[in-house]
Amino acid sequence: MRTQVGIVGAGPAGLLLSHLLALRGVESVVVETRSREYCEARQRAGVLESGSVQVLREAGLAERLDRQGLEHGGIYLQFAGERRHIDFRELTGRTVTVYAQTEVVKDLIAARVAAGAAIEFGISDTEVDAVTSDQPVLRYTGADGVRRAVTCDAIAGCDGFHGICRDAIPVGLRTVWETGYPYAWLGILADVPPSTDELIYAHHPAGFALHSLRSPQLSRLYLQVPPEEDIAAWPDDRIWAELQRRFALPGWQLTEGPVLEKGITPMRSFVSSPMRHGRLFLAGDAAHIVPPTGAKGLNLALADVTVLAAALTSLVRDGRGELADAYSDACLHRVWRATHFSWWMTTMLHATPGAGSMEAQLQLSQLRYVTSSPAAATSLAENYVGYRPAAPSG
Ligand code: FAD
Ligand code: DHB
Repeated sequence: MRTQVGIVGAGPAGLLLSHLLALRGVESVVVETRSREYCEARQRAGVLESGSVQVLREAGLAERLDRQGLEHGGIYLQFAGERRHIDFRELTGRTVTVYAQTEVVKDLIAARVAAGAAIEFGISDTEVDAVTSDQPVLRYTGADGVRRAVTCDAIAGCDGFHGICRDAIPVGLRTVWETGYPYAWLGILADVPPSTDELIYAHHPAGFALHSLRSPQLSRLYLQVPPEEDIAAWPDDRIWAELQRRFALPGWQLTEGPVLEKGITPMRSFVSSPMRHGRLFLAGDAAHIVPPTGAKGLNLALADVTVLAAALTSLVRDGRGELADAYSDACLHRVWRATHFSWWMTTMLHATPGAGSMEAQLQLSQLRYVTSSPAAATSLAENYVGYRPAAPSG
């Protein structure tokens, strides 16, 4: 088998890349270990930057997003018994859109399938080979048990943090930066209308809480929990009691409802550089992970492949390597900005177990500052809606 671009992983990065390449007349094959149903059901991100919405719109993928996405002009920060609004529209002229990653993935799969694209779900034993040659090879075992080899002009590793593509870059040729956090998020999807018009990020001595949403009928809520927490220790009534405690505000009510789904997500910051080795290009979580506070992961994945689609088109269709050479640096500038922002939001809002009272005072001071100084509020707002550094010169 032969294709122009072999794509490993049918998450948002791999699927959007395949679509953007097709729009430019470049053929690709996408291989994915999970089933289509699993990919479409996995609960993850919920917030799209305005730049991500624009990319999806320009690619003809926003018909449902434009009907069902909820445009938000700001967020609330809650601390010390107060809830303060950060007004993105006023501070940046931009907004974000609440539209679940699961819906983005469903829209992308539907568009690829309608176009007759090659996507294989349920594959196993993925291997990438000869990535420093002009003809890298993608090998896998199809759902039918038959081993296949696809000769490509380039391979895109869009296989997430636990994928295999990053390891195809020799250890001596890459630098990894990584830090963990002494907490995790317990997330629930609840069958109840949101109790808020915009997201609430709450600082509380007992730990962080986030009230997000999925639709006018569905709420998504998160609680800071210890990193090794067992979900069995959190029956629904304990989750609601803890959410009530951390969001409590006189005159405001958190409405409870049936919990449809719950899970615990560990948190880390991770960057692997460079994002390219020969004709292997990494994109999205395969190259970098941010803690979820600030909603950057999905947006970074979409931004990477927007740059990569242009670079690969130039490389495999036009035989020009300049954009491919610039790919890694162009992405890493934005990745590091988002990595800093996510770390900053995370450490401002979470209670570190065992930390003295000094930490809480510093966090409260910072929260008062970002909600009262227009300069500080604008800095938070422009990072949240999506800061796009200019491409490096030279
Ligand atoms: P993934 O979505 O991980 O996709 C990779 C795909 O590759 C998967 O389908 C996987 O099955 C497949 N794969 C893995 N290994 C192989 C292999 N060997 N062969 C073939 N296929 C393989 N981000 C935001 O922007 N906003 C948010 O609000 C937000 N909230 C989040 C909340 C939670 C609870 C979590 C867990 C994440 C959140 N994120 C958020 C992060 C966001 O979900 C990820 O950054 C995003 O999924 C990255 O997309 P991706 O395509 O790079 O990787
Ligand atoms: C959601 C997740 C986030 O990490 C965040 O900062 C905001 C919203 C969500 O899943 O809705």
